[in-house]
Amino acid sequence: MVGFAYEGSFIMEILRTTAEMARWRDECCRESRTVGFVPTMGYLHQGHLALVKEALRRADRVVVSIFVNPTQFSPGEDLDKYPRDFGRDLDLCRELGVDVIFAPEVEEMYPSGFQTRVLVDHLSQNLCGRYRRDFFSGVTLVVTKLFCAVRPHLAVFGEKDFQQSVVVKRLSKDLNLGVEIIPHPTVRESDGLAMSSRNTYLSKDERQSALALYRSLLAARELVQEGERRVEVLIDRTKAIIEAEAHCKIQYVQVVDEDTMVDIVEVTPKAVMAMAVFVGKARLIDNMRLWSD
Ligand code: PAF
Repeated sequence: MVGFAYEGSFIMEILRTTAEMARWRDECCRESRTVGFVPTMGYLHQGHLALVKEALRRADRVVVSIFVNPTQFSPGEDLDKYPRDFGRDLDLCRELGVDVIFAPEVEEMYPSGFQTRVLVDHLSQNLCGRYRRDFFSGVTLVVTKLFCAVRPHLAVFGEKDFQQSVVVKRLSKDLNLGVEIIPHPTVRESDGLAMSSRNTYLSKDERQSALALYRSLLAARELVQEGERRVEVLIDRTKAIIEAEAHCKIQYVQVVDEDTMVDIVEVTPKAVMAMAVFVGKARLIDNMRLWSD
């Protein structure tokens, strides 16, 4: 365990093991403190910090985990290249007043002999689940383990990973984990690009092309505002905008019901357009609710 003094009084602890985490958590229990949690893979940006601020607003104590989870990457994905800057992450969390960083090693989370799996069935199968074979099983496994270690009252998840937050909500309910899942709106750069640790992979030109994702979502929503309800028409329009850009290769653009993740053909108040697009080597995801009252 490592503690840091901040402005004379505040101590942010860095815990590396589930045993240390359990001791800290028991202390919160004795003091009747509520615990908020923000799970991350590090390389924090303003999007993560918005989740942390939300957790700080809602709970007495806040834990941020920093763990690049190998089980949610398939072979050939960017596990080895995934950006990391632990020192900077600590500084950012300390400045906000985070109480604990939980940063276990891979061996702590997945010791030799580990063989348990956690599966959220239907919600995980569409959208990203169709293209990233190991993603949701890895996420649900690590989130379950993190929830068991931290035992938070609430956890904040960004809606950029909208399918993930729906899957995790189901997970918490189905396994009686008792963690309230708080979805937080996507945080965007001033030009609309959804914040993501993977934006760091973009060259200057690719970053410019990547703006087409947000632009195309806005265009789809505008068509809905004008009365268009046919999903096929919306998807065609969206794809045309993205395909007109250099560097962009669409993996999927779909419109689903936000509760079930099932594709729909007519826009409803629960319609979400979701997309994954390779911009250069970066696989970016984004989404938007199409209905506005
Ligand atoms: O969204 C992420 O950064 C990850 O999928 C999460 C939830 C931290 C699990 O590794």
